[in-house]
Amino acid sequence: MLTVLLLLSCASEKPVLQGEPVGSCSYTSPFSGDPECRQFYGADDAEAETICSKVDATYQAGVNCPAVESLGACYYESDGVQVVTTVEGDAADKCGSNRFGCETFAKGYWEPSAFCSGSDEIVVASDPFPQPELVCVDALSGEPEGQSDGGQVCTWNVVSGATEEGRHFSDYVGCEAVRRQRGYSPVPPNALSEEADARMDDPTYVTEVDWVRSQLHSGSCDCCHSAAAERGAAIFDADFEGNLANTFNDRGLAMGAGWVPTVGFGTYPAEENNGFERSSPDNPYLSAFPTTDQARMKAFFEGELAHRGRTQEEFADDTYGAGPLDEQLNYVPERCSADEGVFKDGTFRWLPGRARYVYVLEADSANPTVPPNLDLPEGTIWRVDLPADGTPVSADAVKYGEVPGGMTQAFPESGAPAALVDGKDYYLYVSADVVYPISRCIFTAGQEAPAVASGCDSSGGALGLLAAGLAGAAVMRRRR
Ligand code: HEC
Repeated sequence: MLTVLLLLSCASEKPVLQGEPVGSCSYTSPFSGDPECRQFYGADDAEAETICSKVDATYQAGVNCPAVESLGACYYESDGVQVVTTVEGDAADKCGSNRFGCETFAKGYWEPSAFCSGSDEIVVASDPFPQPELVCVDALSGEPEGQSDGGQVCTWNVVSGATEEGRHFSDYVGCEAVRRQRGYSPVPPNALSEEADARMDDPTYVTEVDWVRSQLHSGSCDCCHSAAAERGAAIFDADFEGNLANTFNDRGLAMGAGWVPTVGFGTYPAEENNGFERSSPDNPYLSAFPTTDQARMKAFFEGELAHRGRTQEEFADDTYGAGPLDEQLNYVPERCSADEGVFKDGTFRWLPGRARYVYVLEADSANPTVPPNLDLPEGTIWRVDLPADGTPVSADAVKYGEVPGGMTQAFPESGAPAALVDGKDYYLYVSADVVYPISRCIFTAGQEAPAVASGCDSSGGALGLLAAGLAGAAVMRRRR
C-alpha cells in the first residue's frame, strides 16, 4: 500500500482551482505565529466568512491576498470549500513545518515558493515543544500556603497540568509553554450564550457553574479559556459574565461529560497533578476537563446536554476527541521504504529531516505522541532526545545504542538498549519534534544498508509524509 501511495504522490500535481477568486482573509497563524492569508475560490461569501472566523479573521469579499514574499501556499479543502493559504515570510527553516502542517493536518497540497524549494527537509531549528517542567513557587500573597515543601505551590507547565484547587494556572506557571504546545487564537462562543438563561436565578445551579469555572482556572485551560487569554477566549470562557455553560458547543459539552474520549491530549495521574485527573488510556470516558471530582464534573455537563436535548447515543461513534493528536496516536505504520530503517551495522536512515527524538520500538508498540503519558509507549527499546537548545541531528550522526553527541538517552534509564534480533521486525519512529514525525515505519533488523538512496529524490520526505497523512486519514475513516 505504501508503494502505491508513493507512486501516486510522486505524480501528484497541484489541484485545479475551482472557479473564480471571491475574497480572502489575513490573520496570524495560531500555530506558527506567522502572518498568513486565505484565498477562496468559487465559494459563497457566507462559507468563506465562517472559515475565516475560525482564526478570528475578517473575511473581505472581492479582495485578493496581497502579493508578498512567501514560503509557499497550501491548497486544501475546508468544509467543502477550496482554500489556498499563503504563508508569508522568508525564513527557510520554517518550510518543513509549514509543509507538514499542510499535508498532515489540512490534508492539502503544499506548493513551495523559491525560498522553500530544495530546502524542504523537516527540521525544528529552534523553539521546540517545551517538555513538562514542575514549577514550584510561593503562594501569591493573599492566597493560602501551598501544599508542597516550604508552603510552595507546584504545577506541571504542560497542557495536561493543573495547579492547586482554587488557584489560577496562569498565575503559577504562565502561559508561554502551553501556548507553544497547543495553538491559541480567540474563537467566538456558541451563540446561545447571548440569550438570557433563567437557570441563573437558581443559586444551586449557579454554585455548580462557579465550581466548573474554578476547576477550569486550575488547569492550563485557564490560559486560552478565561480572561487570562488576552486576545479573547477560545469558544468557552471561565470568566464569562452570563452562563459559562452556554458558551460551549454541543461537542465541547460531550467532551466535558466524557461522552467523547479525549485520551489523546495526555494526562497525569491525579496524585501527581494536585488531585486533578481526566480522560486516560485506562479510563477514556472520564471528562476532558482536569477535575478533582469526576462525578460532579460529568454530571454538570450531562445536565447541559440533557438541557439541549442531546443524548449519549448521538456521540457513540465520535470516539476520537483529540483530533490530530488521536490521528497520530492511532497511526498504523507501514513498512519502511529503502531510504528508511536501522541496518546491520547499526546505522540509521530516515526521510529528509533532522531529529530531536529517535525511537526504536517493538513492532506492535503504540505510536509515541505527547508527554507526560503518551511519549514513552510500552515496547520502547531505545529512545534518545535532544535538549531544547540542541542542534537537530541527521541520520548519519546516529548509531544504534550509541548516544549521539548532544543528545541524552531517555530509554533505557541506564545502560545499553537490548540488541536487535536479526530477521525480527521493529518500529522506527524519528521526529523533528513532539508529534512531528519525519519517518515512522517498520523495518526488519539485520539488513545491509543500501548503497544509494532511492525513491523520489529530494522530495522523498514530502511524499512519505503525504503517504502518512493519507494512511492516517484512512485509519480515521475506518474507525468512524
Ligand atoms: C493554548 C491554548 C489552549 C489551551 C491551553 C487549551 N485550549 Fe481548549 N481550545 C483552544 C482553542 C483555540 C480551541 C478552539 C479551536 C480549536 O479546537 O482549535 C479550543 C477548544 C476546546 C474545546 C471545544 C469547545 C467547544 O465547545 O467546541 C474543548 C472541549 C477544549 N478546548 C478543552 C480544553 C481543556 C479541557 C483545556 C485544559 C486542560 C484546554 N482546552 C486548554 C485552545 C486551548
